[in-house]
Amino acid sequence: MVDATSTSGLNPRQFATHTLNKGATFWFTGLSGAGKSTLSSAIKEKLDTMFADTQKVFVLDGDVIRKGLNKDLGFTAEDRAENIRRISEVSKLFAMSGQICLVAFISPYKKDRDFGKSLHKDQGIPFYECFINSSLDVCESRDVKGLYKKARAGEIKNFTGISDPYEAPEYPDLDIHTDDLNLEQSVSFVLKRMLDDRIIVS
Ligand code: PPS
Repeated sequence: MVDATSTSGLNPRQFATHTLNKGATFWFTGLSGAGKSTLSSAIKEKLDTMFADTQKVFVLDGDVIRKGLNKDLGFTAEDRAENIRRISEVSKLFAMSGQICLVAFISPYKKDRDFGKSLHKDQGIPFYECFINSSLDVCESRDVKGLYKKARAGEIKNFTGISDPYEAPEYPDLDIHTDDLNLEQSVSFVLKRMLDDRIIVS
């Protein structure tokens, strides 16, 4: 019998290997070019192949959100704090609704990340601070968007790592060394934690 949810005659549920057990936020912090967006979208892609339902994982990405919801904000310390405050609230709502929310923002200030963490913890929602740990040298040498070059030339002010601080997490829940791990290894590292903590179950 063909399942009513199927559009192709195949039942997508028959390919599911895992289920989502509880909503959670995985908060990826790191320098520009460290690999936050790449890793979070690769994790979503992987989880989408593991779950029957591809609507269970949501990515909130700085570059995208700053063109919409937070387009009124710049890069002063105050604006970054407001950026992170709003995203903390939004990610909490996604996680509360039982989804996995993957957050990819530089989030350079400890106090702003701690705010997001406390917002989740107060509601008993799992929150993982994930440090995308790539050195400034490596990020700058990649310079995928050409922003480091502009920052060095003084064309971009308050650029994280060059003319603005980045407070690296001291005790991250996950320390992901993207200089040493390839993308597949980084994805597996995060997925292992999801399984170990029964965020997802097989
Ligand atoms: S923050 O610090 O968390 O509020 O920043 P975020 O919202 O993640 O936005 C970072 C992206 O904005 C671009 N950009 C800058 N980054 C840092 N400093 C300055 N001054 C700046 N100006 C523009 C940059 O493309 C960042 O994207 P990623 O993906 O991190 O490279």
